[in-house]
Amino acid sequence: MEKTKVAIVGLGTVGSGVARLLLDHGDRTARHAGRTLWLEKAVVRDLAKPRECDLPAGVLTERLEEVLEDPEIRVVAQLIGGLEPARTVMLRLLEAGKDVVTANKALLAEHGPELFDRARSLGRCIAFEAAVAGGIPIITNVSQCFSANQVISVQGILNGTSNFIVSQMDQQGWSYEHAVGEAQRLGFAEADPAMDVDGTDAAQKLAILAHLAFGARIRWGNIPKVGIDTLDIADLRFARELGYRIKLIAHARLVSAGLELSVSPTLIRMGQPLAEVRANYNAIKVVGDAVGDIFFHGQGAGQMPTASAVVADMIDTAVGRAPITFRTLELWSNRQSPVTIRPDDDLPGRYYMRFCVVDQPGVMAKITTVLGEEQLSISSIIQHEPDPRASESAVQLVIMTHEAPEGAARKAVERIMRLPVVSGDSVRMRVMEERRSR
Ligand code: HSE
Repeated sequence: MEKTKVAIVGLGTVGSGVARLLLDHGDRTARHAGRTLWLEKAVVRDLAKPRECDLPAGVLTERLEEVLEDPEIRVVAQLIGGLEPARTVMLRLLEAGKDVVTANKALLAEHGPELFDRARSLGRCIAFEAAVAGGIPIITNVSQCFSANQVISVQGILNGTSNFIVSQMDQQGWSYEHAVGEAQRLGFAEADPAMDVDGTDAAQKLAILAHLAFGARIRWGNIPKVGIDTLDIADLRFARELGYRIKLIAHARLVSAGLELSVSPTLIRMGQPLAEVRANYNAIKVVGDAVGDIFFHGQGAGQMPTASAVVADMIDTAVGRAPITFRTLELWSNRQSPVTIRPDDDLPGRYYMRFCVVDQPGVMAKITTVLGEEQLSISSIIQHEPDPRASESAVQLVIMTHEAPEGAARKAVERIMRLPVVSGDSVRMRVMEERRSR
């Protein structure tokens, strides 16, 4: 059988999974590729480091040149995280005539235009299914299967670590710190888990998806984002009492003035598909004008789900499918100007608000007066009996609103926070009502 030599650069969690699939399941790749994907080299920083997978003698090397200088190695999975040396290695691989597969969404979100222009000018290809939502084949679907549609919206849970943390806190009663530690131990989290929990990772993935779905170049840093790192367990409990769960939702929607984009903790009614996505799973709802709603669900983080997407890309690249797609998609070019992200103020939405208030006469009236003046209609209120053991007479007041413009909701919270009867921090989160589009 024909043999295509491939290499891996970076043998961390995902790289080791890719090596295992190539070495232990060569029969599968051969069946789908019509050729053997032969793992010729795996480049690592430190040869002495203990490895979880046994590689055949001579495969492991510290020298990238052994890949660059071997003309028979055609496809390289570049699986180094972060921006540098990942960017330089990617450019060197392309310049050496290799087609590259990557899972590094931070690199693409930051340096996509440079890398894609370079690959195009060299006649090479970059495949990146694993960069968004791990094992879910969302890149292929959005870039190919919606071609007859105008995509209207993309909404989803794009960070497995945040979803794991929030799910375990909500449903298993874990502390935030314990959940973060477990997400790291299980290999879901980035090397720096701050990028998962502060919304950066989800914003980078959303920028990539929105680019494919809407043909708009988006700087991920311009996407308004709030992570789960500031989420209070009290809000998970209040949300549950109201019949909702809180999820970190990445949202992109076509509106008349451009694109509406955000990443933020959001309340979703229990029983709705996005509300029931657990653990390290991701889910994405894409709405197209012809096809209607399509829902994708699967493991968005973790060794083997991500490795599955990388190896599928390696096969597609080896057989020549990925290069055709790459050439036909006008992806990330320095010639495209970045799209303007629409300011949020007019966007209608429902809101969850929580205030810490003094428990005395007239407080509720003062707060509801502000909401009324800002044209915000209340849909429900929770105030529990004060704790008789507490020394202060402060209570938590939770308000759910009907639909209102974002700007009005923000202004109302600012005004309420200035009332002398309100103390501490306030919380304001969007409430997402999943509607069928057609
Ligand atoms: N750290 C990412 C996540 C996995 O938790 O979703 C890789 O994208």
